[in-house]
Amino acid sequence: MRQQFVAGNWKMNGSLAGNAALLAEVMAGAAQARCEVAVCVPFPYLAQAQQLLQGSKIAFGAQDCSVHLSGAHTGEVAVGMLQEFGCRYVIVGHSERRADHHESDEQVAEKAQRVIEAGMTPIVCVGETLEERESGQTDAVVLRQLRAVTQRLGEQTSRIVLAYEPVWAIGTGRTATPEQAQAVHAVLRDHLKTLGEAAGGVQILYGGSVKPDNAQVLFAQKDIDGGLIGGASLKAADFLAIIAAT
Ligand code: G3H
Repeated sequence: MRQQFVAGNWKMNGSLAGNAALLAEVMAGAAQARCEVAVCVPFPYLAQAQQLLQGSKIAFGAQDCSVHLSGAHTGEVAVGMLQEFGCRYVIVGHSERRADHHESDEQVAEKAQRVIEAGMTPIVCVGETLEERESGQTDAVVLRQLRAVTQRLGEQTSRIVLAYEPVWAIGTGRTATPEQAQAVHAVLRDHLKTLGEAAGGVQILYGGSVKPDNAQVLFAQKDIDGGLIGGASLKAADFLAIIAAT
C-alpha cells in the first residue's frame, strides 16, 4: 500500500513574516495528517523552514538544484548545500524550469541523480503541453521525459517521487479530469513496473490546479498517490483541506 503524499510548491512566493504565519497554521492543522506532507520553498527561506519545522511532521525541500557539485556556476545551488540545510526533497524538471530555462530531459535526469547521491528524494516532474495533448502525444511525451530519468537511474528509480503535471493545468484553474489524470498515471506506473517491484511502488503525484473541491476525487484514483500543489499551498486553509482529502 503506497503512502499518500501532499507536497506544496511555493514557487517564487513568500516573505519571512508570511512564511512564519503560513507554516504555523499548517503545522497545527496537519499534526494528525494521514499522509506525508512537505513544502518546497525558495532557496533563501530554507533556513527558516529548517528552524520552524524542526520536530514537526512537515518535511521541506527545494524547487531545483544544480547538476554541478561546486565551482564557478554563478547563481546555481548545489545539492550538498540543500542537504546541509536539512532538505528531504528537491523538485527537478518542473515545467516552468523546462520552459523558462530550457532544461532538457537529460539535465533533469542528471539533477535527479545528484539529489539521490546527496541522500535526498527528487520529485521529478513530467507533463505535456496543451498542443502536445491535442495532437495525441501525451503518453509519448511523458514517457520520453520519464525514460531519460529511469535510464540514468536504473534500480535507483525506486528512490524518486514522480509528479505528473499537465502544463495546461498549471495555475490555470483548468484541472485534468480524474479520468485523464489516472490514464496518464497508469501509463507512468506501467513503465515504472518494468524496472521491478520497488520502482513500481514509486509515489506518483498529480499537480495542476488541485484545489480543496477537486482533491478528493483526484486522490481516489488508483494510481494517484497525492498531489504537488502550487497556488493552493500558499493558503493554509486550502492546503490543509487538500491534505485532509487524502
Ligand atoms: O508544482 C505545482 C504545480 O505547478 C501546480 O501549480 O497548483 O498552482 O496549478 P498550481
